[in-house]
Amino acid sequence: MDFLAGIMEEFKSKIKTNDTNKGKVSAVCPSNIALIKYWGKREVQLPMNPSLSFTLTESHTRTDLKFKPKSDNDIQLKVFFDGDRKPDFEPKIHSFFERIEVFLPFLKDFEFEIHTQNTFPHSSGIASSASGMGALALCLTEIENILGANLSESERLKKASFLARLGSGSACRSIYQGITVWGKTDLIEGSSDLFALSYPYEIHETFHNFRDTVVLIEEGQKQVSSTVGHDLMKNHPYAERRFVSAIENLEKLIEVLKTGDLETFGTIVEHEALSLHAMMMTSQPYFILMKPETLKLIETLWNFRKDSLVPLFFTLDAGANVHLLYPEAYDSRVEEFLNTNCSPFRMIHDRVSI
Ligand code: PMV
Repeated sequence: MDFLAGIMEEFKSKIKTNDTNKGKVSAVCPSNIALIKYWGKREVQLPMNPSLSFTLTESHTRTDLKFKPKSDNDIQLKVFFDGDRKPDFEPKIHSFFERIEVFLPFLKDFEFEIHTQNTFPHSSGIASSASGMGALALCLTEIENILGANLSESERLKKASFLARLGSGSACRSIYQGITVWGKTDLIEGSSDLFALSYPYEIHETFHNFRDTVVLIEEGQKQVSSTVGHDLMKNHPYAERRFVSAIENLEKLIEVLKTGDLETFGTIVEHEALSLHAMMMTSQPYFILMKPETLKLIETLWNFRKDSLVPLFFTLDAGANVHLLYPEAYDSRVEEFLNTNCSPFRMIHDRVSI
């Protein structure tokens, strides 16, 4: 069986009944923050390097998906956000449904109403596409089971991760709690470009209950979307080295997650964040998503860490906001830092639980 036929066989719908009752399903899915960054992809939504992330706990999307039978043969959906109809959001979801219809043929048998809410402010810089696509994929696999697919819980999560990836790459990692990995690599047994999995190796207790406090340097729409950024990796002069560097960092991180060596953890994670932004700054056309306040905060953090020896580190997403990472045991020491240095900015206090 060739590669594509194999994928089709594994993920195509195994619905056995023709039960087309109306109904409603719901799902909650968190956002995630990558420590090893995915930046650069090939068709269709396949990553150029493996990535690893913390799934967050507080920042999540809740989606209620209502479905009722219809007779014509097209995709019909309406999207509501915080109770209001959002026609602007519909083309993206429509394309997502078109892309995954081959794996979920029932999408044309129903009309859908998607009601969605986030626990974090809209356009706050938290990746709502990850939690949003994750929640939607979980809803769809639940409908598939209602219609008789009979997927076990692990098969259902794997398929949800596979589908979420086709909506937004990093969304596939949000399906699992704790630490997750996406992208085929010999370093992680069972890893795949097609879906994410729960990190399968030992995790030192230092990383249980890690904090992620997001300092919102800039709110609102990003000037350059991640779709454009990924695309610019195609003719990027440093792309190949970057993909190798991500693998090297992942290899070191696997050891650090086992030993609990926080200092090396910080070196790897901060190098990843700055490498991501270095790729943006050396694309053609080049662009900068960090703001002066981003760099100022990083410098202040480095000075604080040197003086206090508090293991406080940062990572960055594709934006100006700074994610502060630290073990829960240092909550009160970091609170001093936040009060002194971050009070002009809004913050989101999140964490990863393992
Ligand atoms: O999933 P996308 O296409 O929004 O890309 C995510 C890219 C980063 O957030 C910068 C890195 C990552 O691995 O999450």
